[in-house]
Amino acid sequence: MVAERLLFGGDYNPEQWMDQPGILDEDIELMKKAHVNVVSLGIFSWAEEEPKEGVYDLDWLADIIHRLYASGISTVLATPSGARPRWLAEKYPEVLRVDAYRRKNLFGGRENHCLTSPVYREKVRQIDVKLAERFGHDPAVILWHVSNEFCGECHCALCQDAFRGWVKKKYKTVDALNHAYWARFWSHTYDSFDQIESPSPIGENSIQALLLDWKKYTSDQAIDFMKGEIAALREGGAIQPVTTNMMYNFDGINYGKMAKEVDVISWDSYPEWYDENLYRAMERHSMNHDFMRCLKDRSFLLMESCPSGTNWQEYSKLKAPGVLTNEGLNALAHGSDSVMYFQMRQGRGSFEKFHGALIDHSGRDDTRVFREASRIGEALHSEELTAIVGAKTVSKAALIMDIENRWALDGSAGPRNAGHGYLQLTEDFYHAMRRAGVNVDVIDAQHDLSGYAVVAAPMLYSMNDETAERLRKFAEDGGTLILTFWTGIVDENDLVYTGGAPHGLMEAAGLRFEEIDTLPDGRENVMEPAETGTAGSFTERRYRCSRYCELDHLSTAKTLMVYGQDFYAGKSALSVNHYGKGRVYYLSSWPQRAFLNAFLRDVLAGSGVRSLVEVLPKKVAVCEREKDDVSYLFLQNFSGEKKEVVLAAAAEQIYSGGEYGESPDFGKQNAQAGETVCVEAFSTKILRV
Ligand code: GLA
Ligand code: ZN
Repeated sequence: MVAERLLFGGDYNPEQWMDQPGILDEDIELMKKAHVNVVSLGIFSWAEEEPKEGVYDLDWLADIIHRLYASGISTVLATPSGARPRWLAEKYPEVLRVDAYRRKNLFGGRENHCLTSPVYREKVRQIDVKLAERFGHDPAVILWHVSNEFCGECHCALCQDAFRGWVKKKYKTVDALNHAYWARFWSHTYDSFDQIESPSPIGENSIQALLLDWKKYTSDQAIDFMKGEIAALREGGAIQPVTTNMMYNFDGINYGKMAKEVDVISWDSYPEWYDENLYRAMERHSMNHDFMRCLKDRSFLLMESCPSGTNWQEYSKLKAPGVLTNEGLNALAHGSDSVMYFQMRQGRGSFEKFHGALIDHSGRDDTRVFREASRIGEALHSEELTAIVGAKTVSKAALIMDIENRWALDGSAGPRNAGHGYLQLTEDFYHAMRRAGVNVDVIDAQHDLSGYAVVAAPMLYSMNDETAERLRKFAEDGGTLILTFWTGIVDENDLVYTGGAPHGLMEAAGLRFEEIDTLPDGRENVMEPAETGTAGSFTERRYRCSRYCELDHLSTAKTLMVYGQDFYAGKSALSVNHYGKGRVYYLSSWPQRAFLNAFLRDVLAGSGVRSLVEVLPKKVAVCEREKDDVSYLFLQNFSGEKKEVVLAAAAEQIYSGGEYGESPDFGKQNAQAGETVCVEAFSTKILRV
């Protein structure tokens, strides 16, 4: 926990207004009006902090930090490595990235430094130490924001060397390397580690294990770079916790590994509000909130979000009244201890001049966005909501979404090059689990499974022995495990398992994979009830299925649904196997959402995972956090109509948004189990259970 209160504020870039010193006073007044209690500073201030090599100027920053603090606004202080000053690139061109075509970048943009360059690492270390020496004990600074949205890769000579070292350390001998890379294929055998080159569209791009290793290496290198920065902050004496801001659905870094190196998880969320279905737009980001929370199994920070429209999405869709409030409270519902924005004041020029901000170009406090944001700030500081800070999320259901599995799928040719759809499939599962009204943990394959009653692991194509064993044990010990087609096919190095799939789980699933058919977009098969009798409401009718149709040999598993078409009509499309004290469901195809909704509702209830409410209407989200024996139930309506939720337990209402989030009411009101509670259009209710 970073603070005893919920944080409200966001990125602030006063260095862009150095020629208008008066603006700081205006901003402070406006921020106070909006109930801001935190800003992130210095993210892109290197050129002001070190205007010439070795010449540091942190006085202006200290002045701003302290003036803010005097007004009750703390600082999350960044290290500036996300964007370098011009002099640095000019003097040390090795800091500039080289792309996969081996072309060197010119100066420009941001988040594009070489991750290996000793010069860059040293220059970053120096400025980080200076910042830590100056602010490392400052009570005004509550958290360090290391760099900004780490991302990307570099193929320069220094990085090639580092990659070779990484590969050599992993495989030790060239024989082992050739075996793992299946390098005799197309005569690509390596004679020495010196021949290792990063993958390239104009070079090696056929060895899929190399592609996978490159992703793992790049991720490790970014984490190593970040560790260097954290070490520099500690070297300079900083005592505050550290974080780095992560991204939505980002596939460049193994966040599970990165999470181990920071004290606090934070991330930047920009839902696609131009989606026609706002519930769906939010749900994708709710899933990422759950993923972020599970990285450390505790509350996190929403570091950035947009108070209005962004300027970089396809469409800068304005948020209708209430949407901004629901978006912020959704983060809170899923485990955030903050609602923070990019940005406090809108800049006048360059790339982000039209990005939404708390204070827009007019500089006024009577704008629609300012008013709604201020109302959120006020609510977060109420006694009722402050009590939620640090509250935990307890979930009996988990969904595995594994980054290394995604990399392996991305790098593999076949069986469905028109899109493997891993993310979409996990989203379909997430949707169904959420529609069942339960809390959901979104975890990677390394995560501890104890404590869960149900674990869904869709399309876990790449799986090591250890993961297979943990999943097997989970079922054996009484868990309900849900597997799908294309599972346990390759090991962690993308080498196909011989002897059958799903590797390590054939006995638990009571079946063996034989072939997989993939269908073009728009083509479908159907899943029909099997003649062996029903197993729940989900086996009582036909459902459409698409994309993948796997053909499996069942041993001990019982068929629940069969394919209705093609030469494999009548073969199992869904089966269940009783194994040890638990069960394993195996879905051989990708069913339509209606099936998954019915299936997960039944399976969760049958496994003792009860819905948080009795009746959950469409487009209403439910979530729960717990602290000191009190549960906080969040009901959020993402539709334009009033919705009625039926409670499962007696509760006391502590926050109730009016229509479109207007005039929230903090009046306490009691409701009984089975009672109907109304949630107004685009608004949120929070209840104590
Ligand atoms: C990212 C960055 C910010 C800003 C926002 C704009 O999240 O971290 O610096 O560019 O996007 O949406
Ligand atoms: Zn490099």
